[in-house]
Amino acid sequence: MSHGMRVKNMIKCILKTSDLIKERQTELLDIGFVPTMGNLHQGHISLLHEALKEFKTVYFSIFVNPKQFGPSEDFNRYPRTLERDIELIENTLIHFPDSKVIIYAPENPDEVFPKDRHQVISVNGLSTVLEGKIRPGHFDGVATVVYRLFDIIKPSKAYFGLKDYQQYLVIKQMVNDLALPIKIQGMPIIREIEGLALSSRNQYLTAEQKSTSLLLFNTLSIIKNIIDQKRVNIPKANSFITETLKDPNWNYLEIRDSETFSEDISHSKNITILAVYQMGSTRLLDNMQVEVQ
Ligand code: PAF
Repeated sequence: MSHGMRVKNMIKCILKTSDLIKERQTELLDIGFVPTMGNLHQGHISLLHEALKEFKTVYFSIFVNPKQFGPSEDFNRYPRTLERDIELIENTLIHFPDSKVIIYAPENPDEVFPKDRHQVISVNGLSTVLEGKIRPGHFDGVATVVYRLFDIIKPSKAYFGLKDYQQYLVIKQMVNDLALPIKIQGMPIIREIEGLALSSRNQYLTAEQKSTSLLLFNTLSIIKNIIDQKRVNIPKANSFITETLKDPNWNYLEIRDSETFSEDISHSKNITILAVYQMGSTRLLDNMQVEVQ
């Protein structure tokens, strides 16, 4: 298949921003948008599925955004699998015969970030704690690219996986701060049968690391069970967390308010247990939500 051409009636893959803007101008409909970095798995497909349930036309971006990777991170080895990604999108679209998907897959970062645009979007506060503290500049890179994609694509609604919970909050805050007319929909984490949350980075894991990685899901599940929806159990959960953190492979493991992301959860109704476990050079990120009374 050659990119930039009509693949099937209902899918187009566009590499150039100017072509995408032209395409977008051909119809003034409300559209749904799924931003990704490609190397698609069922987590991404669940976002597409939801978008196709709500919109006849869905824009789907595949762009490995250099601005959200630190200098020692995996930008160069991040898997790029465009042909396979397009096939997965086609297979999803089969279930929506009246719909269409426009894939925006710029290969050259200048398409997204023209040299004469110097704008950086930074969401104050949220971007510098937890994941943002370990990866300085990461959320500025995410917010900047998502803002730029929103500006090019002009969706009514955009879909994000809740696996990257802090990212989801950063995007929601950005939309609120800039008063963008875009709804943000968070979608549930998709897991392997044993519990590991799907992620493009899971393929970096050896078979042995993969079985050890279940520790992450199991630990979050234990904490959720200790809390058992009761605020009085939170101190017990915190003692378990303190004990667990003796394993230095945890980058972090902590509980925050699901809405405000505050560490003070004394009045929270919904809390999120967030964790990153370091598996060799791979950081496995996951979270679990708990309602509390
Ligand atoms: O979650 C991702 O895949 C990326 O962070 C996103 C939102 C596509 C921005 O590059």
